[in-house]
Amino acid sequence: MTSIGVIGTGDMGHALAVRLTGLGRLVHVANSRGPDTLESLARSVGPLALAGTAADVAAGDGTPGRIVFLAIPFGRYDTLESAPFEGALVVDAGNYDIGRDGHHPRLDSGAMTTGQVLAAQLPGATVVKAFNTIWYRRILEESRPDAAHEDRLAVPVASDDPAARRRISALVHEMGFAPVDGGTLAQSARQEYGSLVFNQPVGPARAEELLATDRGAASRDRKEE
Ligand SMILES: NC(=O)c1ccc[n+]([C@@H]2O[C@H](COP(=O)([O-])OP(=O)(O)OC[C@H]3O[C@@H](n4cnc5c(N)ncnc54)[C@H](OP(=O)(O)O)[C@@H]3O)[C@@H](O)[C@H]2O)c1
Repeated sequence: MTSIGVIGTGDMGHALAVRLTGLGRLVHVANSRGPDTLESLARSVGPLALAGTAADVAAGDGTPGRIVFLAIPFGRYDTLESAPFEGALVVDAGNYDIGRDGHHPRLDSGAMTTGQVLAAQLPGATVVKAFNTIWYRRILEESRPDAAHEDRLAVPVASDDPAARRRISALVHEMGFAPVDGGTLAQSARQEYGSLVFNQPVGPARAEELLATDRGAASRDRKEE
C-alpha cells in the first residue's frame, strides 16, 4: 500500500485526515510551520496521524503514485517546491477565492483552472481535483460508507489522467461519498469556487446535472470583492 499524506491542517486538512485515518490508513500530515506545531492536531485525529514537514509529506515513501492531499489556500500554491512531489498523485482540494488569494489573471479570464495552475507548478506530479466542492463539516459529519451510491453526497473528481481519476474516485467511495466524473482539469472549471455544484449538498445524479449545465469560469462574473 502506498503512503498517504495531507498538506494543510486547517479545517479541510483536518477533516480529510480524520476520514483517511478512519480507513485504517497511516496518514502523514503537515502545515507550513512545522511538525512541532501539530501536536494537538495529531492528538485530535488519533494515533494514525503522524506530523512531518511539508517536503517530507510530499515525498512520502517515494513510490510513484503515492497520494498527497493538498488542502491549502490557492494563494499559497506558488510556495510549494516541486521536487518532493515528483511521482506523487496530488489531490487538489483547494479553491481560488479572490478575497483571500488576490487576483490571478489566467483564472479570472477562464484560461486556466486551479488544478491546471497546480499541475504547472508541480510538473512531476499527477493532479486530481477533488473534495474542493464540499464543506469540511460535511466531510466530518456526512460520510456514509454503508449507504448506496445515490444516497451519498457527491464529490466531483477531475484529472487529465483517467487512471488517477479512477483511483481517487475509488478512495472517495471508501471515504463514504459518491464520486462523480468531473472530466479533465480544464473541465474542472465546472467545479471551481462559485460553480453550480460548489458547496451543494447533492447526490451524484444532481451533481452530474449541475456539471453538465455549468459553462465554467469564463462565463462567470468575477467582480472584485
Ligand atoms: N474549509 C472548508 O470547508 C473547505 C472546503 C473545500 C475546500 N477548501 C479549500 O481547502 C483549502 C484549505 O482550506 P481551510 O479552510 O482548511 O484553510 P485554513 O483553515 O486556513 O488552513 C490552511 C492550512 O494550510 C496550511 N498551509 C498554507 N500554506 C502552506 C504551505 N506552503 N505548506 C504547507 N501547509 C501550508 C496552513 O498551515 P499554517 O497554519 O502552518 O500556515 C494551514 O494548516 C483552501 O484552498 C480552501 O478553499 C476548504
